[in-house]
Amino acid sequence: MKMKQTVTALMLALSSSVVLAGEVEVLHWWTSGGEAKSVSVLKGLMEEQGNSWKDFAIAGGGGESAMTVLKTRAVSGNPPSAAQIKGHDIQEWGKLGFLTDLSDVARAENWDSVLPEVATQTMKYEGDYVAVPVNVHRVNWLWVNPEVLKKSGAKVPTTLDEFFAAADKIKAAGFIPLAHGGQTWQDVTLFEAVALAVLGPEDYQKAFVDLDIDVLSGRKMTEVFVQFRRMRDYIDPNSRGRDWYSTTSMVIDGEAAMQIMGDWAKGEFAAAGKVPGKDYLCVAAPGTHGQFTYNIDSFAFFKLSDEANRQAQKDLAKTILDKDFQEIFNLNKGSIPVRLDMDMSKFDQCALDSMATFKATSKSGGLVPSVSQGLATTSYVQGAIFDVVSNFFHAKSPDPEKAASKLARAVKSAM
Ligand code: BGC
Repeated sequence: MKMKQTVTALMLALSSSVVLAGEVEVLHWWTSGGEAKSVSVLKGLMEEQGNSWKDFAIAGGGGESAMTVLKTRAVSGNPPSAAQIKGHDIQEWGKLGFLTDLSDVARAENWDSVLPEVATQTMKYEGDYVAVPVNVHRVNWLWVNPEVLKKSGAKVPTTLDEFFAAADKIKAAGFIPLAHGGQTWQDVTLFEAVALAVLGPEDYQKAFVDLDIDVLSGRKMTEVFVQFRRMRDYIDPNSRGRDWYSTTSMVIDGEAAMQIMGDWAKGEFAAAGKVPGKDYLCVAAPGTHGQFTYNIDSFAFFKLSDEANRQAQKDLAKTILDKDFQEIFNLNKGSIPVRLDMDMSKFDQCALDSMATFKATSKSGGLVPSVSQGLATTSYVQGAIFDVVSNFFHAKSPDPEKAASKLARAVKSAM
């Protein structure tokens, strides 16, 4: 009798968990060592809550391939529960009517008061949350192998002039000065760092957010292209098409001295067991000290019909902004938590600098959205900028003045 009761109780428990448990299918492009480690934390927490996790990973930094696959799935009426969608794209998906309203979770969890304004603005479509931010990445970083600098007799550069002076010494010593992966989004990552240094945050904002044609075609923009072009003399001949993380490995292994890349690169250093301040250094990209180019990773949530899966979506939304998750995920990912009320005691100096600069620039200016990461402008304008910048960088005899006017024309026609 007792046995029968136990079995019935167990079956009841199982059937209720079957009813409650849902599945989340999550599209992302986190496939490098550090990234995979980070996303597995989210998977684990969802499974702990009885939900199942269906991984929908599409490799390719910058997410271009992931976005192509997502469009096909969504258009055929079979979207995932959530997808890594950022910046202006969230508005575009919202406009198409694909995204679900997360206001009830947002209200219950107080998102409006724990998140920075740049995040809340981006996550809402027509005033309602349709996406959840995961982190804040700083994009204007220079990653340095101090050993290579030492062997070359070079010092850590803080301005563009110092960068080129150091690069000459490193080249003469037989190392690759700048590790660069020649994929379009990485070209633009390098370009926007140079642009911020040459233009300063106000003109950067005017050019890439306000799309001011005078600034886009102006004298300072020509200078941006001049400096950007100079970078090409310091990269290796095998750069074209290389992934960002293999490129980071060149700095980790001491084959190259420096890389300009967002702090997802730190996730790779961390996954390789490297210690900041000792094995590698993180400093602001040359000429951008005290400025912050931001990239906010986020998941947008799609409308689903299955009730259990809708509940699982809510669990996912809530989990992403849970303080414990924010801590572990961002320690692995290289980014900083997107919540402003976090205990940062477990974070390293790079993350502490990032958080301090993020908070300071939010108040005093100097906080600008990343073009390469889709935070600055629409995907149409972004595409136009990508084409001009990347073609210029890989051209045989590029002309900086012509590139600036081409940029202005391309942006104008994409507006
Ligand atoms: C994402 C990062 C990611 C990087 C490289 C960026 O677009 O925002 O989270 O680590 O691409 O894959």
